[in-house]
Amino acid sequence: MTAKKVDEIVKVTNLKKYFEVERDIIQKLSSKTKRYVKAVDGVSFSIKRGEVFGLVGESGSGKTTTGRLIINIIQPTEGEILFDGIDLTTLSKGEMKKIRKRMQVIFQDPYASLNPRMKIGKALIQPLEIHRIGTPGERKDMALRLLEHVGLTPPEIIYTKYPHQLSGGQRQRVVIARALILHPEFVLADEPIAMADVSMRVLLLELMMKLKEEFNLTYLFITHDLATAKYVCDMIAIMYLGKIVEIGKLKDVFKNPLHPYTKALLSAIPIPDPEHKRKIEIPKGEIPNPINPPSGCRFHPRCPYKMDICEKEEPPLKIIDEEHSVACHLFD
Ligand SMILES: Nc1ncnc2c1ncn2[C@@H]1O[C@H](COP(=O)(O)OP(=O)(O)OP(=O)(O)O)[C@@H](O)[C@H]1O
Ligand SMILES: [Mg+2]
Repeated sequence: MTAKKVDEIVKVTNLKKYFEVERDIIQKLSSKTKRYVKAVDGVSFSIKRGEVFGLVGESGSGKTTTGRLIINIIQPTEGEILFDGIDLTTLSKGEMKKIRKRMQVIFQDPYASLNPRMKIGKALIQPLEIHRIGTPGERKDMALRLLEHVGLTPPEIIYTKYPHQLSGGQRQRVVIARALILHPEFVLADEPIAMADVSMRVLLLELMMKLKEEFNLTYLFITHDLATAKYVCDMIAIMYLGKIVEIGKLKDVFKNPLHPYTKALLSAIPIPDPEHKRKIEIPKGEIPNPINPPSGCRFHPRCPYKMDICEKEEPPLKIIDEEHSVACHLFD
């Protein structure tokens, strides 16, 4: 019996991940209270099958942690994660192994993602071996076909190379191929082009979009760069210090950004026109410390529109328009 596929391939509700801060012995003796980095602090959203869902925010905002929670590499402190309607937080190891085959990941650094002592061919067939798919001959065939598919030709030659014998762009193509060899439904792409040469970036994005259609994929696309998000995403969520501050269809968020943080991020995208003046400056200052985030709205110390209430009350995510929500007291 096959279960009916739900439209929302991923649904997270009130997701939280707190990391305990390491303390030295003196700190342990002087204070009993443990301290936590609230990396993800009450995030809810869903990803529809077939879409590219972008998670955007500055360094340390909690994007990678959110992604790792969804693919179940780490366990949440609190909250629910549904994958195709199945609650991942309650699964046994065996059940999780079956589901994991359906979700794969492409990390930022192709060098770190590939074992330097393993030939490309072996790296590609390894997931098939682990999941006992095909005979050795069939596995090799699948790997060769996939290499060709991601533009690595001649595949027979690439198959015998070590990672260091390839260029950075080629290595990232290998990482993409390896993510697809088990025919997953969902791919977490965490800054997949950040390490690539500028000239390679658009090509890699185009490849990922082509593969999305051919393999019927859904992407959770993590990036700190709104220009990249604009190129690929259908939906976009803006994260700040462990919270989503705005979420909506990409075109709505770009045309009508609501949160002051989103507006500032958008105005920071370089525009190739020397006459163009930026309307809003990127907010001053560093992102505050996630161990002790600001009270009320976490963005208030950097916000040009700060009101009294912003220091006191945390704004909930509020629906403004169809599928477009913002967490900001300006919209109370
Ligand atoms: N394993 C961990 N132990 C302790 N703290 C962690 C751990 N992983 C992440 N953090 C902290 O959680 C916060 C969010 O980190 P995360 O990596 O999710 O951010 P990010 O948005 O992906 O940033 P970047 O753009 O730099 O990749 C940071 O303050 C980080 O230091
Ligand atoms: Mg990250």
